[in-house]
Amino acid sequence: MVLSKVFDSQFNSAMKVRASEILNGKYTTRNTHISIVLVLFTMLLIMLFPLSLMRDSSESSPKISSVTSLKNSTEVKQCHIFSGKWVPYTEGPYYNNETCLWIIDQQNCKKFGRPDSEFLQWRWKPDECELPRFDATQFLKVVKGKKMVFVGDSVGINQMFSLICLLSHVSQPEDISMKQTTDHTYFKRFYYAKYNFTLANLWSPYFVKSSDADTNGHSYDSIMKLYLDEVDEAWASQVEDFDIVIISAGHWFFRPLLFFENGELVGCNKCRKQNVTDLAHYYGYKKAFRTAFRTLINLRRFKGVTFFRTFSPSHFENGDWNKGGNCIRTKPYTKEEMKLDGNFLETYLTQVEEFKAAKKDAIKRGLEFNMIDTTEIMLLRPDGHPSNFGHAKNKNVAINDCVHWCLPGPVDTWNEFLFYMLKLGQTSSG
Ligand SMILES: *[C@@H]1O[C@H](CO)[C@@H](O)[C@H](O)[C@H]1NC(C)=O
Ligand SMILES: *[C@@H]1O[C@H](CO)[C@@H](O)[C@H](O)[C@H]1NC(C)=O
Ligand SMILES: *[C@@H]1O[C@H](CO)[C@@H](O)[C@H](O)[C@H]1NC(C)=O
Ligand SMILES: *[C@@H]1O[C@H](CO)[C@@H](O)[C@H](O)[C@H]1NC(C)=O
Repeated sequence: MVLSKVFDSQFNSAMKVRASEILNGKYTTRNTHISIVLVLFTMLLIMLFPLSLMRDSSESSPKISSVTSLKNSTEVKQCHIFSGKWVPYTEGPYYNNETCLWIIDQQNCKKFGRPDSEFLQWRWKPDECELPRFDATQFLKVVKGKKMVFVGDSVGINQMFSLICLLSHVSQPEDISMKQTTDHTYFKRFYYAKYNFTLANLWSPYFVKSSDADTNGHSYDSIMKLYLDEVDEAWASQVEDFDIVIISAGHWFFRPLLFFENGELVGCNKCRKQNVTDLAHYYGYKKAFRTAFRTLINLRRFKGVTFFRTFSPSHFENGDWNKGGNCIRTKPYTKEEMKLDGNFLETYLTQVEEFKAAKKDAIKRGLEFNMIDTTEIMLLRPDGHPSNFGHAKNKNVAINDCVHWCLPGPVDTWNEFLFYMLKLGQTSSG
């Protein structure tokens, strides 16, 4: 049931997209069968574990990456990896639904019959250099003895599973979520024994303290209270243990929210209360990031490297996200076809501004803050989402997922960036 709850939470948060106004209990009920099947399937996989562990030591990445070029750190530093374009690439993805056993159903697009494959035939090409291919062996060398955590919502968890899949031909982790004292349904933890590498997520879609404020209880569009200057201890109390932090948030901020500061109601987003100022989601988003970054900077024991992954845009078309909207394109957009503007641009700029301000303070405190600048890159990938291929056909799921990303898929690129930046950091610090 643990797993099924994670799936539900993944789904729910997917849905809490934009305004977050989806299915209440209905999905959960319908989803129970599939979840049980999944749990059984996963148990089977766990029983097969020793096999994969045995393979662990013998295999290394079959693809020789161009990491050698990273040895020249001055050369690499000059490459702005986030400006470039998607180019055709026919060698295929790093893994598939048969070779990676960790793809959750909601992102296992091929399993649920996604017919087209062109979305797997593109690679990000920076203007100034080649993005090195992800090299699992090298990656594990870099993170050996370290602890890495994804802080935020289910899109961060999406990247975590992409990473697990990218590593899976070299090493399989043990799922140690159950050993945690915290809620192991939302807080997953994996351990790579051979590398003494811990990979985890800390669930905190707002970074700050939040609570339900709806008299009808929690649903996809229920109103919530956010205490913008009070950090969510669910992540803040644990993050000091980690060496590498990847932090991100987004879609939950689009729902109706009441914003509190100093314990006082200061405004809201979409709350439709006559005597409360509508400050729009940007206000809460900005302040929540400010609180999150300040927390990292002020935590005395925190010595980790921080990667801030920018907002991941959704791609609902042919209707609103809660009114049958979907994402059925099979090719990327070109830069001419799709520009970052409007709401997404504003959302992106809001967080980047906070990041830049925080980075200055982080540097003074001797901390490294990096940005994985994926917003515009992912805006060009309307073809990368599950849409309605995140569940079995006979499941009557009303909402298409145009928020999360298929695995394998363009989200794997985020980990190529992460690999590149980690490696670069290691190189430049000697
Ligand atoms: C690194 O690359 C730069 C530019 O290509 C070159 O000028 C420099 O000599 C290289 N440094 C080393 C140590 O190879
Ligand atoms: C993988 O996807 C194929 C369709 O491409 C499907 O037939 C198969 O059952 C899937 N396997 C797993 C383990 O999900
Ligand atoms: C594993 O790494 C942790 C730090 O993440 C370290 O404290 C511990 O001693 C390491 N254990 C072994 C067996 O190397
Ligand atoms: C706002 O309106 C609600 C209901 O109309 C009322 O209960 C509340 O006291 C009002 N708050 C303020 C600050 O005026």
